[in-house]
Amino acid sequence: MCGIVGYVGSEQAAPILVDGLRRLEYRGYDSAGVAVREPNGIQIVRAVGKLRNLEKALEDKHLDGSVGIGHTRWATHGRPSKVNAHPHVAGPIAVVHNGIIENHLELRAELEAEGVQITSDTDTEIVSHLIHREVTAGHDLVTAVRRALEHVDGAYAIAVLSETDQERIIVAKSSSPLVLGVSEGASYCASDIPALLPYTNEMVFLEDGEVAVLEAGGFSISTLAGDPIHREAQKISWSPVMAEKAGYKHFMLKEIFEQPRALEDTLRGRLDRENADVSSSEIGLTEDDAKSIRRVILLACGTSHHATIAGKYWLEELARMPAITELASEFRGRDAVVGEGDLVIAVSQSGETIDTLMAAKEAKERGAKVLAIANVNGSAIPRMADASFYTHAGPEIGVASTKCFMAQLANLLMFSIWLGRRRGALSEGEAGELVEGLARIPHLIDERLKSTHETVAELARHYSGARDVLFLGRGLSYPMALEGALKLKEISYVHAEGYAAGEMKHGPIALLDAEVPVLVLAPQDRHYERVCSNLQEARAREAKIIGITTAGDLRAQSLCDAFVEVSPTVEALSPFVTVVPLQLYAYCVADHKGTDVDQPRNLAKTVTVE
Ligand code: AGP
Repeated sequence: MCGIVGYVGSEQAAPILVDGLRRLEYRGYDSAGVAVREPNGIQIVRAVGKLRNLEKALEDKHLDGSVGIGHTRWATHGRPSKVNAHPHVAGPIAVVHNGIIENHLELRAELEAEGVQITSDTDTEIVSHLIHREVTAGHDLVTAVRRALEHVDGAYAIAVLSETDQERIIVAKSSSPLVLGVSEGASYCASDIPALLPYTNEMVFLEDGEVAVLEAGGFSISTLAGDPIHREAQKISWSPVMAEKAGYKHFMLKEIFEQPRALEDTLRGRLDRENADVSSSEIGLTEDDAKSIRRVILLACGTSHHATIAGKYWLEELARMPAITELASEFRGRDAVVGEGDLVIAVSQSGETIDTLMAAKEAKERGAKVLAIANVNGSAIPRMADASFYTHAGPEIGVASTKCFMAQLANLLMFSIWLGRRRGALSEGEAGELVEGLARIPHLIDERLKSTHETVAELARHYSGARDVLFLGRGLSYPMALEGALKLKEISYVHAEGYAAGEMKHGPIALLDAEVPVLVLAPQDRHYERVCSNLQEARAREAKIIGITTAGDLRAQSLCDAFVEVSPTVEALSPFVTVVPLQLYAYCVADHKGTDVDQPRNLAKTVTVE
């Protein structure tokens, strides 16, 4: 969480920093601030709340300098306030930080005992004082940063500016993400790629335990111990336009509508239609790997976790592979049984979620092989994994994940088909039907998006006052029900629960009355009859039923108060079409209520705290 950005060049730094922060605002939006090195010292402007408050403050205070750092905050230590907003200053040093310093209380006590005045409640201010202490002891800024970080336990990506040093920024990282950018006459740093896309697509990913010095003429990287590291910049294929709203009211709506394209890009070059297969070179594992896997453990959080439940169902059915899903936060530290023969698939849009990263690391240390499914090239999870199978959804800016979820489903299904073929569990005919069906999915979604949006917007207007909403599904529709409920909670702040339809009578049925809308996923699959029974059970308690039904299914539709139609698909492919109306329902309810759809309260896009 939190976004940091830095610039050294010949342009005015402040507008570049603010522009970068705008593109990072999805990471946190409790407060924001910038520090710019002016000829007579470092000037700092900070403001509580959204970035627009900082922009307003900058209208009153013009910053004049071509070197600076900026920060947008998701509060961990210390409430959102001006004094807790970054950058934090100690003497001539200004610091922005993303992450958590675990031993900050201990360090605070140590510094206070030395007579240091600490003004904020943050762990970051401690880092600025540690660096200041080293500078005061006579060390140059880079050495001071290295020495200060020796005292620090925890996760950090920091950018440091000093008014007594040269025109440069020192950055360092451990566990939190940091990317460097280079262009003619300028260097940049940011927590995420989209912040830098308007300026450069030449980027370098800093690794844990590394320090870099950014200057207008380029950058140099070394280890914390001071050993130089040579790393070439790589070209990032995302374009700046991909990270713009393109006329949509919100990024989330744009990203829902981008799903056919995101799926096409993710499938491109991977479906081997001639051989009813998925291309081995894309999966990242060898044929021998496929034979040696005993069990698959799917690790993820939030929406990505919901994708992994569908993945488990596909792996069992299509590859006859024992598979379990684990919430990464629950897997860690509980001494789970994992080791050789296990393939851990770590699924993460950002590739940076700390729980998923640490859980996958733990599994790897115990002998499991790790395959990453991530959307951000070069992010931490793919970097630590043995192999990577990227999704190609493009940058996702809305905090509520939509198109990346869709792309994760595609990769998990492709992987299951690939494994099923290698294990002899899936015949050529069965695989062919899936591969052909999957190739058609982008079109099936696309042809209904506009009309579904209209239907769902009407429903959302009608039901947006509901206090509780239930989402029910069986089989592959169950994880989609979970996802529908999470989306609604996240952005509309309505209490929602996703349940396996068969579980309703074991508890949640007690919630039902005429005030509760129940969204029932009822595609015409093997569970159809039983879902229709569950639907009637809910109806008998006067709940309002909104069916997600196959187009033309008059029977299910006659049991519902309202319905949305989805295109018929092969059973295994139904999640791709059933989840879309649920995403749109959450979006339309939130939009109707006027919540901040792209930056819902208390959330951040990338969760780098445990
Ligand atoms: C999705 O809408 C959520 N914002 C959240 O649950 C997210 O899926 C979760 O934090 C995991 O993120 P990741 O995919 O980047 O690891």
